Order: sequence, then C-alpha cells, then structure tokens
Amino acid sequence: MKLDELDDYILSHIDEEGSLLSELNRDAHVNLLRPRMLSGHLQGRILKMLCRMIRPKRILEIGTYTGYATLCMAEGIDNDARIYSIEINDEMEDFIMKYLSKSPDKEKVKVFFGDAMDIIPMLNETFDMVFIDADKRLYAEYYDLVFPYVRKGGIILADNILWDGKVTDPPQPSDKQTIGIINFNEKIKRDSRIEKVILPLRDGLTIMWKK
Ligand SMILES: C[S@@+](CC[C@H](N)C(=O)[O-])C[C@H]1O[C@@H](n2cnc3c(N)ncnc32)[C@H](O)[C@@H]1O
Repeated sequence: MKLDELDDYILSHIDEEGSLLSELNRDAHVNLLRPRMLSGHLQGRILKMLCRMIRPKRILEIGTYTGYATLCMAEGIDNDARIYSIEINDEMEDFIMKYLSKSPDKEKVKVFFGDAMDIIPMLNETFDMVFIDADKRLYAEYYDLVFPYVRKGGIILADNILWDGKVTDPPQPSDKQTIGIINFNEKIKRDSRIEKVILPLRDGLTIMWKK
C-alpha cells in the first residue's frame, strides 16, 4: 500500500490548515520535543468539522500541548461557545499564548495550567464535547472524572487509542502507557451508558455518545 502517497492525496484534497496553524506546526517541529503529539492537519480539520456538526457550546480539552487542536476546534464553534483546555506543563505557556494571541478565535479559548484531575472539578461546567488527549496512563481516570460533567447526548473523544498498534499485543508490565490505553479501551467497550465507535484515523480516535 502506498500510504504516504495516499496521505499526501488526502491532505491536498481537504481544507488547508491555514497559515497560523502551519506556522505553529513548523515551529513545534523545529523547537519542541515530541511534535508528533499535536493533532496535525487531517485530525485538526476533522475536529473542526465535528464541531461544525455538533455545534457544542462548551468543550473541554484535556491536554493542550501546543494548542493546535484547541485552535482547530475554536475555528468550528460559534462565537458564544467556549473551549476550556487544560495543560499540566506550564513551560508550554509561552508557545500556546504566542499562537492563541494571533488567532481570530482567541476569545473562545481559556487555557488552564495544572493537573486536569484537580482543575476539572473546579470548572463548574457541563460539557457538550470533551477531547481526552493527555497522559495515556490515566485515560480511565479522566473518563470517570469527566463523565458526570458531560450532558446527555454529549460527545467524548479520546485520541491515540490504537497507540501505534501496540494495543493488539500483550503489553510489557513496565509499559504503563500501553496498559493504560488497553484498560481504557476495555472499559469503554463494557460501558453501556455510551455508544462508541473507533475511527482508525492517525493513531486511533474513539468517539463516544452519552445516552
Ligand atoms: C498529546 S498532547 C496534546 C495534544 C493536543 N491535544 C493536540 O491534539 O494538538 C498531551 C498533553 O497532555 C499534557 N498532560 C499530561 N498529563 C496531564 C494532566 N494530568 N493534566 C493536563 N495535561 C496533561 C501533556 O503535558 C501534553 O502536553
């Protein structure tokens, strides 16, 4: 299969990411460790499209990193809608703010620095959409914590749930990230309070709908 060619074909036949996001992307690849963590062109356009379709008024993102996905979702929501994005690493603040401040959608975004486990209960909000994309070891904990704050009919997204394909092999006992993702996937499979589907997009994206 000519996957690289198909990737290029897809990216050349969908909406462009725009000059701000492509500058952010380049900056991250030159100056940051692990730039692959950011959502990127295709997933970013999908997140924006999901926002167009769902029209969420309140979004929670767990794991901001550069703010790439945050800015994509902000493009897709109405002017009175808001995104709360939580990042534990305050060394990312300058990078995030550099691009957020240049975005026409900056008023829609509020970034919190700290541990999502501490911040979520303090937000006092009900969410229409949640994007779980932080520490892979803690996906099940984020899910349990956030679930009561998601409205019925709300959407929960979880990124990287195929984890480079490692989910199909028995994990090494020391590989806590793979174990975290596998446990999360098993938990979601059994949870009858939601409908769920896995998109084999990039590193795998689960979409859940709260009944
Ligand atoms: C995969 S990156 C996020 C990428 C971003 N959502 C995107 O799609 O462009 C994961 C981020 O989660 C952050 N993180 C890890 N544990 C966290 C926690 N407990 N609370 C908040 N952020 C956390 C990491 O510092 C990292 O920047």
